[in-house]
Amino acid sequence: MLRVERLTKSFGSLTAVDAVTFEVPAGQMVGIIGRSGAGKSTLLRLINRLADPTSGRILCDDIAGTAIDVGALKGRELRAWRARCAMVFQQFNLVPRLTVIANVLMGRVSYNATLPTLLMLFSGHDRTLAIRALQRLDMVSHGLHRADELSGGQQQRVAIARALVQEPKILLADEPIASLDLRNASIVMESLRRINKEDGITVICNLHLLQTARDYCDRIIGMRKGAVVFDGPPAELTEDIAREIYGSGDPGDDEVELALTATSAPTPEAARERTAAD
Ligand SMILES: Nc1ncnc2c1ncn2[C@@H]1O[C@H](COP(=O)(O)OP(=O)(O)OP(=O)(O)O)[C@@H](O)[C@H]1O
Ligand SMILES: [Mg+2]
Repeated sequence: MLRVERLTKSFGSLTAVDAVTFEVPAGQMVGIIGRSGAGKSTLLRLINRLADPTSGRILCDDIAGTAIDVGALKGRELRAWRARCAMVFQQFNLVPRLTVIANVLMGRVSYNATLPTLLMLFSGHDRTLAIRALQRLDMVSHGLHRADELSGGQQQRVAIARALVQEPKILLADEPIASLDLRNASIVMESLRRINKEDGITVICNLHLLQTARDYCDRIIGMRKGAVVFDGPPAELTEDIAREIYGSGDPGDDEVELALTATSAPTPEAARERTAAD
C-alpha cells in the first residue's frame, strides 16, 4: 500500500501539487490524467523523491507491513526507495552510445558497489535478470545494438526492461507513450499492463489522453491545477467530469478536445493481432 497524505509542492507562488491525498493498494494500475501543467510529473517526482514536498507525507508499507515514512529516508535507504519505485520517462532516458544490454544493466547500479559498476562488472545474476527482462519486452535480439539505433518504441521497451531489473514494487511512468506512434504506444501500454498483472507491480502512469487511461488502467486519478478532482474506476468518469478535469472546454480549446476525443491506441486485442501480424 502506498499512501499519499496532503502532499503539496509549491514553486514560489505556484502550487504545482495541492494537498493531494490517495491510497494505492499493491498491484493496482493507476492512470493519472490532466492537462499540461496540472502537476502530474511533479507528483511522480515527489513519490520517487526526485523532489521533496513543501508539505504532506508519503507512506509505504515495507515487507513486514509497517508503514515507512518515505520523506524521512536518507542515504542507502533513499537509494533503495528509488530502486523500489522505478521510473520510466517520455524521452526514455537511455544512454545513447551504450548497448541495449548495458543500458538495462544500469538498472542494477543501486544494487552494486560503485566501482565495479563503473567498470561495468556486473554479476551473472545481474546479467541473467537483464536478459530475462529483455526477453519479456521482446527485445533480446537487439541486446548488442546501440540504444541510439533503435526506434522510439524499442527504446521505451528497453527503458521498461531497465526499470524491471531494479525489481521494483512500484513502476512510475511519466507519459511513457507521448513520443510514440499509435502502434508503438499500444505495445508499450500492453507491456506495462502485462508487468502489472503478471508480477503484481503497482503501476502509476501519467497519461495525456483519456482514452489510454480508460483502456489500460484499473483506476483513474484526474488532476486539475495541482488538485485531485476525480478518483475512481474508468466507468465512473463521465464526459462531464472529463471536461472538468481538462479545463474550460471552451470551443476551440484544442488541448481539451484532443485529450477527450483522441483514440490513443487500439484496444489491447487489436494491438496483439497487429504485433502477431508483423
Ligand atoms: N522545477 C520547477 N520550477 C518551477 N515550476 C515548476 C517546476 N516544475 C514544475 N513546475 C510548474 O509546476 C506546474 C506543474 O508542472 P508539471 O510538470 O508537474 O505538470 P504536468 O501535469 O506534468 O504537465 P505536462 O502534461 O505538460 O507534462 C507547472 O505550472 C510547471 O510550470
Ligand atoms: Mg508532465
